[in-house]
Amino acid sequence: MKRVSQETIEKVLNDVNILDVISPYVSLKARGRNYFGLSPFRTESKPSFSVSPDKNMWYDFGSGQGGNAIQFIIEFEKISFGEAVKLICEKHGIEFIETGATEDNNVYDSLYEIHELACLFFQSSLHKKEVEDYLKRRSIADSIIKKFRIGYASDSWDDMLNEFKGKFEESILLESGLFSKGKKGLVNRFRNRIMFPFFNLSGKVIGFSGRSISEKEDVKYLNSPETRLFQKSKVFFGSYLTFPNIRKNQFAILVEGQTDFLRLFSEGYHNVLATSGTAFSLKHASALKKFTNRVLLAYDSDSAGINAAIRTSYVLLQSGLEVRIIDMKEGLDPDEFFIKEKAPNEAFKALIKNALHPVDYLVLKKKALEGGASDQSRFLDEQLLEVIQIKDPIIVNDLIKRFATKFQIDEGEILKRIEKIKPNQFTERSISGEASQDNPNIILSDTLLERAEIELLKILIQNSSMKDKISISDFSNQYIKEIATKILEDSQEISISSLLDSFGSSPKLRNFLASLIIDYSEKDDLNLIVEDCLRVIHAEPTRQKIQLLRSQIQQLEDDGQQPSTDLLKELAELQKNLKK
Ligand code: UTP
Ligand code: MN
Repeated sequence: MKRVSQETIEKVLNDVNILDVISPYVSLKARGRNYFGLSPFRTESKPSFSVSPDKNMWYDFGSGQGGNAIQFIIEFEKISFGEAVKLICEKHGIEFIETGATEDNNVYDSLYEIHELACLFFQSSLHKKEVEDYLKRRSIADSIIKKFRIGYASDSWDDMLNEFKGKFEESILLESGLFSKGKKGLVNRFRNRIMFPFFNLSGKVIGFSGRSISEKEDVKYLNSPETRLFQKSKVFFGSYLTFPNIRKNQFAILVEGQTDFLRLFSEGYHNVLATSGTAFSLKHASALKKFTNRVLLAYDSDSAGINAAIRTSYVLLQSGLEVRIIDMKEGLDPDEFFIKEKAPNEAFKALIKNALHPVDYLVLKKKALEGGASDQSRFLDEQLLEVIQIKDPIIVNDLIKRFATKFQIDEGEILKRIEKIKPNQFTERSISGEASQDNPNIILSDTLLERAEIELLKILIQNSSMKDKISISDFSNQYIKEIATKILEDSQEISISSLLDSFGSSPKLRNFLASLIIDYSEKDDLNLIVEDCLRVIHAEPTRQKIQLLRSQIQQLEDDGQQPSTDLLKELAELQKNLKK
């Protein structure tokens, strides 16, 4: 990719409202001058991600990361700088201008490119009788095949490999997950399979799931391995096309497999999502939570599906989402339901209407009320082990009420049971969900000097009129100095987003800078504060000298000697200077 022109970068940073860039990804609410929402980078239940339209930046208080609009897109979409600028340009009608020499392709660019080419390769191989028959038999319409870019991986070991060998480095071929390493080297990973691509939220291909079309093959679905692009614990099949509708409809229908997804989608349910072969995780829940708080599970109705629906419900409840579960007939999945049922649309609507709360569902499906008293007791305890993982007391209370009603016992009795199981249980799982990230900010020593330097830098960032009063030599901390140097050496006034941009290749400094900016509020008596800070900074050598003299005097006294009067005089003099 060529370099992006400076002009384009400036336009993106200065003309586009950062709220417009971020709000498709994070649901934001105004609070004072800033906007807050759930961090798109971590699992959390209280909003700590903020956007400041005034300062044209974002900051995640939980992890200490922050930056400008371009840096948000880089972090969120995991794409290169150039790609991020391009994406913003496309969405906001800015001309994307490139200049001069080509930059080295970064790994992300190559991985996206190889996935795009693989998708095209699979799409171009669809026209084979066997494949067309299979798709017809499963009644997957042409329009769906096109829209979801479904393709076919031939049964060759190396057709795609030979096509890609010259185009990509071996490391990219390997990292893409599209090839496996056999005894004789690389081979196509996917063979004789219908290929379902996974997309990221900007519609780029990031991985595949391949459905075998041969009855002899044991592995029905083979998926891409975990790669930099494809993270199974948070990816949904189809979300790129359905997230916007999920926000509109105010609920999501969650299914297990892509064939279920495609069936519902073609029947007009455009707010559907599939986890496709991975267990629903807390990360899935937090991704989903950005678009809706309500989830309808339409899992398979065989015993594996029932267990999965119960497990998923608890994960959703832990994340504070509202869950209902569709109870389909014996053993069917949504795909089969629509094919076998006589009037599937009406029937499915009725199922949605009668969807059950997880407590009702699991008591019904697990036949919990049919066993003897001790079976019931054991069953209840098992459920309470799940309930205590939930942090929100309102949700916990609701579940307690529902279990009490079902089993016809006092809520107090359930509370007692909870108290009994709680002490040895409550830690691990509930904590592991909140990925504890190290704060990437630089470590400061919090001395008076450092505080003064930071305050001075904050003022400098926001008020270029103070430039004349401050010089590079006023700073000693290397990080603070580096940022100050950038501002002071720039002859022009530099905007906050451009300043953030100039530290784009050094995340540590950029996040530190963002933390300083977000923290800053307008002050009246700037001149006085600058003077105070400078006094502290300029007094530092004197303070250090005093420190040194004191320890020398202390040393002499420890050794039983008298410090010379000169030494004492010098100390007194220095202390007097400091007070001035
Ligand atoms: P199912 O076994 O229910 O498959 O697994 P399905 O969706 O009904 O598929 P068809 O109709 O037989 O083609 C549900 C989902 O679990 C994943 C797939 O994403 C599948 O859609 N899965 C299943 C795997 O990843 N690997 C497998 O071997 C099986
Ligand atoms: Mn199924």
